[in-house]
Amino acid sequence: MTRRGFTVWLTGLSGAGKTTIAELLEGDLAQRGHVVERLDGDVVRAHLSSGLGFSKADRDQNIDRIGWLASRFTRLGAAVVVSAISPYTEARQRARARVEEYGPFLEVFVDTPLDECARRDVKGLYAQARAGSIPRFTGVSDPYEPPRAPALRIATAGQGPRASAGRVLDLLAARGLL
Ligand SMILES: Nc1ncnc2c1ncn2[C@@H]1O[C@H](COP(=O)(O)OP(=O)(O)OP(=O)(O)O)[C@@H](O)[C@H]1O
Ligand SMILES: [Mg+2]
Repeated sequence: MTRRGFTVWLTGLSGAGKTTIAELLEGDLAQRGHVVERLDGDVVRAHLSSGLGFSKADRDQNIDRIGWLASRFTRLGAAVVVSAISPYTEARQRARARVEEYGPFLEVFVDTPLDECARRDVKGLYAQARAGSIPRFTGVSDPYEPPRAPALRIATAGQGPRASAGRVLDLLAARGLL
């Protein structure tokens, strides 16, 4: 049976929990028989987008590449899980338009407050950004435009990753995509 492809797009600040939730979803979806493609901002930057920096133009180009890939995999019937800061509304909109040629695009706002992300500081980057050694750090010295009408908003503070991934699964089930 060929399933209908779709893209779940996790957006939020660094340390919000996008990669953590995406990894859980990857396992959950595979277990349910989906072909899963996980596109993580850091991984794409290490390969397809190596050489891009963090100017608005470079961030947009990175997101345009991820959006294009997501649309191609959606076309093939995969469950695509994107985890990328994707700070600009317009770039997320372009990704949506591309994907929706082939299947549903579900924007999920991983809404973790800046202070909580900085407290987690998984990669040690907030400390550096606040010391001024990383210019253009999202939420500190570069913009983050929150989604205005996401399909789902997850407040991760006070909730474990498993519960957060469960909310995305509930959304997919409600849309008939599981
Ligand atoms: N409900 C939750 N969902 C996801 N992660 C959570 C949650 N609660 C706590 N965490 C923790 O928050 C951290 C999130 O880090 P993660 O690398 O997933 O962030 P990220 O959004 O991918 O950041 P980046 O944009 O820098 O890649 C992890 O250490 C994770 O265990
Ligand atoms: Mg990540």
